[in-house]
Amino acid sequence: MSSNRRDFLKKSGFLAATAAFASAPAFNAIADDENRIKNPSEHKLPELPYDYDALEPVIDAKTLHLHHTKHHRGYVNGLNKAEAEIALAQSKKDYSLVQYWSRKLAFHGAGNFLHTLYWNSMSPDGGGTPPVKLLDRIKIDYGSFEKFKEYFFSVAKKVEGSGWGVLAVRLSDGKLLTLQVENHQKLTVWDAIPIMTIDVWEHAYYLKYQNRRGDYISAWFDVVNWKNAEDNYLAALRAAKAQHKKPLSNSPLKRGED
Ligand SMILES: [Fe+2]
Repeated sequence: MSSNRRDFLKKSGFLAATAAFASAPAFNAIADDENRIKNPSEHKLPELPYDYDALEPVIDAKTLHLHHTKHHRGYVNGLNKAEAEIALAQSKKDYSLVQYWSRKLAFHGAGNFLHTLYWNSMSPDGGGTPPVKLLDRIKIDYGSFEKFKEYFFSVAKKVEGSGWGVLAVRLSDGKLLTLQVENHQKLTVWDAIPIMTIDVWEHAYYLKYQNRRGDYISAWFDVVNWKNAEDNYLAALRAAKAQHKKPLSNSPLKRGED
């Protein structure tokens, strides 16, 4: 609910009046529908954790500004629109366009999530190697950090068309997976939690690198925020532990860090 609308309702006494009916199920249902239609969750464009020129020369300021303020904002708006339309359809019990809006929800919702993760996967102080807990797991699953980088590079470079390279943790066993994502939502592994990602849509690199996606990915390793990736890795392991009621094999959480 917008602050203007809330202020108006407060001043008009509407909220006090409706409180008296709070125990009436029918009224609550109507109010719930009204709120969901008029006030979807209102996802907001997150601020970047650094300035637009902070990742120069790897990511130029013009690309980063356009990417954040135009492309990411478009996915945020698309997600809000999809959720409002779905709420409206539920209220009207009119599901004629449910397939269309379900697809929009997946596309824009995943786009919003992955872009937020992408911003946090980079840092002006990035690059180098991961902290030890994530590095240990990389060595288990890929043999060495260099072998991981080689594989991640290849997966991201060979995404067909627009998409992402994603490093994820599989909740069932804690294994790291390097995933190829088409658009924002295709080729998903459902029990894998993304912890780091690179956007390989052309809008992420074309102004500076033109068609040289490989050059962009190679340079991008110099700004990867490995500390953030490890924080996400440990958070995913806590989620896995909660889901499976016990630590996974090879998990650093066994040392009582949860
Ligand atoms: Fe993007």
